[in-house]
Amino acid sequence: GERKGILLITLFLNFITFSASKLDVTQFPPSFLFGTATSSYQIEGAYLEDNKSLSNWDVFTHLQGKIVDGSNGDIACDHYHKYEEDIEMMHSLGVNAYRFSISWSRVLPRGRFGGINPSGIQFYNNLINQLLVKGIQPFVTLNHYDVPKELEDQYGAWLNAEIQEDFGYFAEVCFEAFGDRVKYWVTFNEPNEVAKKGYETGEYPPALHSQPYVAAHNMILSHAIALHIYKTKFQEKQGGSIGIVLSMVWYEPLKDTAEDYSLVQSTFDFEIGWFLDPLIYGDYPNEMRKHLGPKLPTFSAKEKETLQLGLDFIGINHYKSLYVGRCGVSYCKVAERNGIPIGKDTPMPGSYVVPEGMEKIVTYISKTYNNTPIFITENGLSQKSDDSTSKEELLDDTDRIDYLDSYLTFLTRAMRKGADVRGYFVWSFIDNFEWTFGYTLRFGIYHVDYKTQKRTPKSSAKWFKDFLNVPRLQP
Ligand code: NOJ
Repeated sequence: GERKGILLITLFLNFITFSASKLDVTQFPPSFLFGTATSSYQIEGAYLEDNKSLSNWDVFTHLQGKIVDGSNGDIACDHYHKYEEDIEMMHSLGVNAYRFSISWSRVLPRGRFGGINPSGIQFYNNLINQLLVKGIQPFVTLNHYDVPKELEDQYGAWLNAEIQEDFGYFAEVCFEAFGDRVKYWVTFNEPNEVAKKGYETGEYPPALHSQPYVAAHNMILSHAIALHIYKTKFQEKQGGSIGIVLSMVWYEPLKDTAEDYSLVQSTFDFEIGWFLDPLIYGDYPNEMRKHLGPKLPTFSAKEKETLQLGLDFIGINHYKSLYVGRCGVSYCKVAERNGIPIGKDTPMPGSYVVPEGMEKIVTYISKTYNNTPIFITENGLSQKSDDSTSKEELLDDTDRIDYLDSYLTFLTRAMRKGADVRGYFVWSFIDNFEWTFGYTLRFGIYHVDYKTQKRTPKSSAKWFKDFLNVPRLQP
């Protein structure tokens, strides 16, 4: 009787432990990178210090009516001065990697028209060295939205092929200065968003409504040139890898019709294939050519040769899923099907929680692009914040814990099905300047009090720390 009871209890406990498939860090390989992510303009502040020049975002945020709360990144999280404290926090979290970006206008205030700024180099050297002291791998983005304003004024930034030379030079300066210690490079963060919002909808600088395909073309070629420089001059002695990061929404067909399935594919071609097809298969998707004709630039024979070097990994920024299909006479992206929402909504307009989207987008990318190594370079949840939101509420972010837990769980499913995923970064490390939403949306797992610059771990930071600090079985 007693033995049978014990046996039943043991079986029951095993059942709970193993069959509930609870998220566990040991489901990831020991070499897997776990970290948090940020970008220069969103956290650094010190916008005019130590010879930094103005970036396009410094100027844009100071224009009337561009940012919902009228704020800007002049000070942001003052990370420029607080990086040591910030790295200490990361260390206490137990992450082994940190994704950040380099401010182009801090390193090369006048682009290739002026010299290298020694204080800019110094800042990133200090940051990188301190990360390494704490056992944290720097995962560095060269361009996360911000561009020296002078390049826009001189020749129109991404609309001019001249920028390829400037970006190549910037990349080379960074490889030369930091590449002995940085082993993961990202050329561009979300060039698909920059091209769309900067050159089509006008939400981002330079707030134009034309030529997104020209802007994207110059970013693709800038990526290829930077990659070429790395492979020919640095790869051998520095041994790192280099990729690109895109914003990737998962799309489901609105109706179970052949037309809606093909609209889904077309949307992937226009949002993801736009960049990855040239870099991996050497040209734009046929679907784009078919619809855009001469509006879509072409690659010369020489450019196609540069493109052949491709990339070492694909970075996925994934937050949300939507339906795509035919609504009456027009094509539409919607969040509901037969009156049922695709997922719980979030404070970020148009963003819905759909954890399965993670498994699906990762599987799609892995299958479509020859099982190229993948990093989840961003994933996370926002909180709404205004004067009436209390700090206590913001610290108690159990919905963010549920979000991260469920998205990571679906990530492990994609990995078990064969996707070669090498790392995962939570967006974001600390609350920061959320572009046109200013400080009204908070993505951090650490709370920032912008009046005092005090950082406080939210419940999600504690959760992430517990998740990471499970002892691993020895092989
Ligand atoms: C995408 C961007 O890369 C990042 O800068 C932004 O803050 C987050 N997603 C959240 O919207």
